[in-house]
Amino acid sequence: MSLVKWIDFQCHGDDRGQLGVLESNQNTPFDIRRVYYLFGTKADVPRGFHAHKQLEQAAICVAGSCRMILDDGKQKEEVCLDRPDKCVRIEKMIWHEMHDFSKDCVLLVLASEHYDESDYIRNYQDFLQQVSA
Ligand code: TYD
Repeated sequence: MSLVKWIDFQCHGDDRGQLGVLESNQNTPFDIRRVYYLFGTKADVPRGFHAHKQLEQAAICVAGSCRMILDDGKQKEEVCLDRPDKCVRIEKMIWHEMHDFSKDCVLLVLASEHYDESDYIRNYQDFLQQVSA
């Protein structure tokens, strides 16, 4: 089964442009408690390199593009986030890394919980141990 799960959401387009809408628990499979975004990133400086024990997230490149590696400890898949109408799930216990940010990249992330450093697994060996436990 693919690790890559896209979230369907509405974009309302007319001759004035596009408007994308995501509503908590309507398009997202979780309540949205936090929104954060990465910007001013650098092409050669990857980010992420962690998994979450409980947090559920969804990510959209609202401007520019980047690549995201999703890894469940058994398989890895890479997605290209290059459109503001593509939203990918980052489920709990999925190691994720973001690479190749375009200069104008703004990566918006919707999260199911408030920020909690104790929910992070930042060491890949620890992650592998915990997913196989
Ligand atoms: P970090 O998780 O290291 O970013 P990334 O995994 O994308 O490379 O977060 C960078 C800093 O921002 C770190 O000091 C934690 C802080 N932070 C918050 O305070 N709140 C948040 O919601 C997030 C995501 C990070």
